[in-house]
Amino acid sequence: MLKGLIFDVDGVITDSASYHLAAWRALATKLGIDLPAAADDQLRGRSRMDSLNVILRFGNQLNRYSSAKLNALAAEKNAMYQQLIVQMTPADILPGMLQLLKDARSAKLLLAVASASQNAPRILQQLGLITYFDAIVDPTALHKGKPDPEIYVAAQSLLKLNADEVISFEDASAGVAAIKAAGQFAVGIGDAQVLRAADYIVPDTRQLKLSAISTAFIRQQIASNDCQVD
Ligand code: G6P
Ligand code: MG
Repeated sequence: MLKGLIFDVDGVITDSASYHLAAWRALATKLGIDLPAAADDQLRGRSRMDSLNVILRFGNQLNRYSSAKLNALAAEKNAMYQQLIVQMTPADILPGMLQLLKDARSAKLLLAVASASQNAPRILQQLGLITYFDAIVDPTALHKGKPDPEIYVAAQSLLKLNADEVISFEDASAGVAAIKAAGQFAVGIGDAQVLRAADYIVPDTRQLKLSAISTAFIRQQIASNDCQVD
């Protein structure tokens, strides 16, 4: 039975993913690295240091910097990013998302946040959404980043729910992989090809309707129960 929803933040609740990408691209340019468009999905959902490594790999600059320099580069990106998010307001909540959260609360579902971003609580505060959530995973307490399932397992545990009682929402292929590795039902928001491992895919948040998603979730549970009986 569906009891909870778990949300990524950047690119799911608000378009802060574009701010992350803009800040990373600015840093890459400074390092003389020309990032192809294909880098974008690889940067989504990854922790700050994993993202920096993605960029350095594109520029063949892995192993070029000391760990102190790597930390300084990551801090520089974060400073640029924080300058971009400071102006965020409730008007920046992606279309359909507030209604989804309200519908979920009315349906007595528990809500959690599973963002790799240390800035996520601040963003949720600025969007006026922080009180909607029963639990927020602290990404600094994790050992592995997405696509490892750890963050989604942690969110589910904070809600005291099982994997077959939650639906999780992601815009990144690494995030969908993390949800599926946690054994949860994945809703992918974005490119159907990139997010093809998800159980339910919509092109953008406007198409997120709790009733339709719950129906898909129930259908899949019935189908998998039938398989187990056979
Ligand atoms: C999210 C974003 C990534 C970002 C990561 C860390 O997962 O999708 O693009 O790199 O969080 O964010 P932070 O704000 O802690 O640097
Ligand atoms: Mg995301």
